[in-house]
Amino acid sequence: MNGDAGVTVRALAAADRAAIAEVIASDETFKADEVAVALELVDAAIAGSTDYEVRVAIDGDAGVCGYICFGRTPMTARTYDLYWIVVHARGRGRGVARRLVDAMEAEIRARGGGQIRVETSETDGYGSARAVYARLGYPEASRLPDFYAPGDALITYYKVL
Ligand SMILES: CC(C)(COP(=O)(O)OP(=O)(O)OC[C@H]1O[C@@H](n2cnc3c(N)ncnc32)[C@H](O)[C@@H]1OP(=O)(O)O)[C@@H](O)C(=O)NCCC(=O)NCCS
Repeated sequence: MNGDAGVTVRALAAADRAAIAEVIASDETFKADEVAVALELVDAAIAGSTDYEVRVAIDGDAGVCGYICFGRTPMTARTYDLYWIVVHARGRGRGVARRLVDAMEAEIRARGGGQIRVETSETDGYGSARAVYARLGYPEASRLPDFYAPGDALITYYKVL
């Protein structure tokens, strides 16, 4: 995929919250508790938390088309967690997630970070996410069966930068 030259990545602004909520709402597979947690982390980032950082993808005049939330993993020397990445349902498949992940990795590298962990579920709704992590060089590192619910494992991906 060539990506979309009109998409840029920038830091979060408080005024982005409504647009981010819309991006999350565009995905019908997120459950109410997942939406609440995703927005909680965005609110923490807006409030200035250093544990949760958000970068947004801007699609020209159309505004926010996706976001990524990551943070330094507590009690580790050089490890970060990628907590959430969501691209608006109508803007997928043109390289927006790749741009967000590239931007996050560049920042983490610049700070001396060494590893990035991502956790996800094995349910169908996360199929695209699993494909994207594999495509962007995040090998599967572990699988905890029945973690979220019977038949729904916790899968961990772990990229060494
Ligand atoms: C996962 C998600 C963020 C991907 O966003 P996207 O902008 O469509 O992804 P990109 O276009 O940047 O794709 C990145 C790479 O993954 C591949 N890819 C993307 N979706 C894919 C899919 N469904 N199946 C296979 N490969 C896929 C692309 O081909 C691309 O590879 P390439 O650059 O080598 O061609 C998006 O589908 C989404 O928001 N899903 C719902 C939310 C979610 O599950 N988030 C993760 C958990 S928080």
